[in-house]
Amino acid sequence: MDAGEITILVAVITLVVMIGAYFLSKNRRVHIGIMGGVIAFDLMIPVYLLLTRDWYTRLIEREDILTFGVWMHFFVVLVLYVLYLFQIITALKILKKEDADGIARNEHRAQAKGIILIRAFVIFTGALLYDPEYIL
Ligand code: HEM
Repeated sequence: MDAGEITILVAVITLVVMIGAYFLSKNRRVHIGIMGGVIAFDLMIPVYLLLTRDWYTRLIEREDILTFGVWMHFFVVLVLYVLYLFQIITALKILKKEDADGIARNEHRAQAKGIILIRAFVIFTGALLYDPEYIL
């Protein structure tokens, strides 16, 4: 297995762990710990890929930046980050007990399904783009 395949495998494992934490939402410590960890992982992945892949050759010299796949992947990542922001805002409302009417909890629960779906798409489109040629 090369570095790229391991990265995809680790990402899939974190998705499975996230689905586990989704069902363990009543256990706040476990839920917040795992979700916080997965969100941090997702924020670090672009930095890791930037440092360990020859993105300049691929995106600029070979003009991959003009392809549909790259943009599709980029936009699902963007959507995921925005959903994370909303998820954290609703979580803080629940934690600060500013949610007597239950609206924040309802939003948190609804967004949760979107996050899992979009995160699966991020990993899938990322895996489609994978090319061992560009590993540094
Ligand atoms: C750092 C991020 C997050 C924090 C701080 C957080 C925090 C919380 C808190 C405090 C609750 C209420 C738990 C209780 O009933 O006592 C909750 C519920 C829940 N969370 Fe999160 N959460 C986060 C991210 C996520 C993510 C990413 C997902 C989905 C992938 C998710 C899915 C859920 C679900 C389904 C519930 C149950 C809602 C309900 O009881 O109606 N959470 N979360």
